[in-house]
Amino acid sequence: MPKKSKAKAPNTSGKTLTPFDQFNLEVPASFPETGMAARAAQAMVNSEEWTDASPMLNLSSFVTTFAEPEELEVMHHNFTKNYIDHDMYPQVFAMETRMVKWLHGLWNGPKGVEPYGTATVGSSEACMLGGLAHKWNWREARQKAGKDASRPNIVTGGNVQIVWKKFMKYFDVEPRIAPLEVGNYRLTTKHLEKLVDENTICVVAIAGQTFTGEDDDIQEIHDWLDRYEKRTGISIPMHIDGASGGFVNPFLYPDYKWDFRLPRVQSINASGHKFGLVPPGLGWVVFRERKVFNEDLMFYVNYLGGEMPTATINFSRNAAPIAVQYYLFLRLGFEGYRQVMQHSLDNAVHLRDRLVKSGYFKIMNRTQRIPVVALTLDPKIKKYNEFDISFKVRERGWVLSAYTMPPDAQEVRSLRIVVRPHLNRNVVDMLADDIIKACKYLDEHGGTAKPPALHAKHTSRGHKC
Ligand SMILES: Cc1ncc(COP(=O)(O)O)c(C=O)c1O
Repeated sequence: MPKKSKAKAPNTSGKTLTPFDQFNLEVPASFPETGMAARAAQAMVNSEEWTDASPMLNLSSFVTTFAEPEELEVMHHNFTKNYIDHDMYPQVFAMETRMVKWLHGLWNGPKGVEPYGTATVGSSEACMLGGLAHKWNWREARQKAGKDASRPNIVTGGNVQIVWKKFMKYFDVEPRIAPLEVGNYRLTTKHLEKLVDENTICVVAIAGQTFTGEDDDIQEIHDWLDRYEKRTGISIPMHIDGASGGFVNPFLYPDYKWDFRLPRVQSINASGHKFGLVPPGLGWVVFRERKVFNEDLMFYVNYLGGEMPTATINFSRNAAPIAVQYYLFLRLGFEGYRQVMQHSLDNAVHLRDRLVKSGYFKIMNRTQRIPVVALTLDPKIKKYNEFDISFKVRERGWVLSAYTMPPDAQEVRSLRIVVRPHLNRNVVDMLADDIIKACKYLDEHGGTAKPPALHAKHTSRGHKC
């Protein structure tokens, strides 16, 4: 039996009770035997996270950290509802269904079809559902044709987010990953000929990639696959990972074809909690039409009331992010989202220009679609690296990611700043000043940081993940 421990209560006998008594408590070593006053528990929880980063200054993350008061009220109103219980909370389900239809339209889904999609915990769950749909469709088609269906693969770029490597490992799909190269960190058509074949369940291309914020060559890849089909008779669908770009491209670049306007694009995911502007966690996956999400993946249960379809990986989850997304779509509309994205992009361009002008940095992204600034130090700087800068600005509270790029560009180190919508120009200038001051300090004193070693594993075709 594990030893039970008590939260040690302050000795208040014969003493004046002061507001500081709530701080005179020790955290028990094992499961607490007794409870404590609400105020005291709250004080312990709050004080334990004092040294955590300030979410507002955590610019290594794409995830939303701002909410207006009415949004918080909507969240509060819905946060004890379980999303999956459609029978009890049919209106949350109705909001979700309506938003799937709206997103299908926003991403230029074909008219006259039944849109299908779902809200998820984040883009990871959304990507997995997209990947599963393609695996199922591919396998069904192979089996119908009497062909071997035991070796599915996905073709994607070395810039892919970790979720796809997880998906391929967890769901037994061979990763075929096009290597990056120094100066080009996107999936292009360059390696497709070697990677694509009859076992390719889909090509995953990214809109707004994690490392530099750029888009893969979506249209070119699509057209290459058209030519491949003409040559070989093999038709390969595309999944667009629009975790970030899905809520930027429609508003800022309405004429840019990255979405369902390209017929091979059969599924798209996006993070409601990134540029969808909902605090964590919410993702979306939307299919070109109902039949792309293979019916075999759908389950029906009756244990929460009436018969209910379920096709998410998670079952129970908080309904509040869905209600908040609905609030935001109504509150901002297309024009509101456009303004928010434009202001963030303008700030990103301003920050990028200031940092490049300082002479310390080179920009890594050739195009600037989403508000992400990806920098690398000018090669003339030898006394310190991007990790040193990240550590130095942390003294001021800023959290900026420094990382080495994936294979075959691993010698390139990057400093990435996600210029989220809650930053105003004044704050962006403070950040630029602090980064430049950090460089000046490091010019004088040098740096000592080493990139953290990753547990790199070899996968098929020699690439590490
Ligand atoms: C391109 C891309 N795909 C997928 C994900 C995973 O998204 P989530 O954190 O919402 O699960 C991310 C997260 O940063 C991403 O940038």
